[in-house]
Amino acid sequence: MQNPTSDQPIIRFDRVDKRFGDLLVLDKLNFQVDPGERVTLIGPSGSGKTTILRLLMTLEKVTPAQDPAAEGGVIYVEGRPYSHMEKGGRLVVANERYLRQARQKVGMVFQQFNLFPNMNVLRNVTEAQVHTLKRGKDEAESKAKELLDLVGLSDRIDHYPSQLSGGQQQRVAIARALAMDPDILLLDEVTSALDPELVNDVLGVLRDIADTTSITMLIVTHEMGFARDVSNRVMMFDNGQIVEQGPPEAMFSEPQEARTQDFLRAVLAE
Ligand SMILES: Nc1ncnc2c1ncn2[C@@H]1O[C@H](COP(=O)(O)OP(=O)(O)O)[C@@H](O)[C@H]1O
Ligand SMILES: [Mg+2]
Repeated sequence: MQNPTSDQPIIRFDRVDKRFGDLLVLDKLNFQVDPGERVTLIGPSGSGKTTILRLLMTLEKVTPAQDPAAEGGVIYVEGRPYSHMEKGGRLVVANERYLRQARQKVGMVFQQFNLFPNMNVLRNVTEAQVHTLKRGKDEAESKAKELLDLVGLSDRIDHYPSQLSGGQQQRVAIARALAMDPDILLLDEVTSALDPELVNDVLGVLRDIADTTSITMLIVTHEMGFARDVSNRVMMFDNGQIVEQGPPEAMFSEPQEARTQDFLRAVLAE
């Protein structure tokens, strides 16, 4: 097995297939992401963006090759098999125990904030630290308070999610994800469910995190200004394949492919 080193990709999709029934959502998808890179995924609804993030969050499993004799696709994280594990010198589909360990490197924030409604803000941010990472209560609380300060919610730690605006709830969700010290942060349309006046607060927090940490980010967003400012690379998807990719300046000002041009025209006209 290779030793993980920092000069190799932090994420690598190697010929990854994903089917839902007869629907082939990802078709032998290959891509890699370097440590510290910020990659924005764009593309029409249904093009497979959320599926890619959910595979990385281990909420979905890769689909094995149809032909049992053929090798199926594999996701690697930090140089190690992630969707799979080594067994007797071969890669086999990872079991639950392996996945539980592996997914600790990855944090995700969803379009819907998904906070625990019966827990106050502080407890939302400490719960997984205590249960999953086995941190002591004091350490977890001090970490939570630091992060709630970063997202501008120090004065709301006793509130319940129902007492917060959508933008505040989403900032708690960001703090909760960061509390687990992930190496990779996945952001799936995190401002799409927010009232327009709340979008900038959330994007501001994410810009700060991008500016002050080296965390690797995969971002799905329709906020093209934000994508341009924070990402190193933009990947355009359609039908589960990469149509084209490049630095945001090039992708937004001179996209080469008609599908990208059409998509950007539609998004920017919204
Ligand atoms: N759990 C599921 N069961 C069946 N089909 C699904 C499921 N999740 C996603 N899909 C389908 O997979 C395709 C890609 O979806 P998704 O990854 O959510 O796209 P995007 O995020 O780019 O809009 C869509 O056609 C969607 O309907
Ligand atoms: Mg989606």
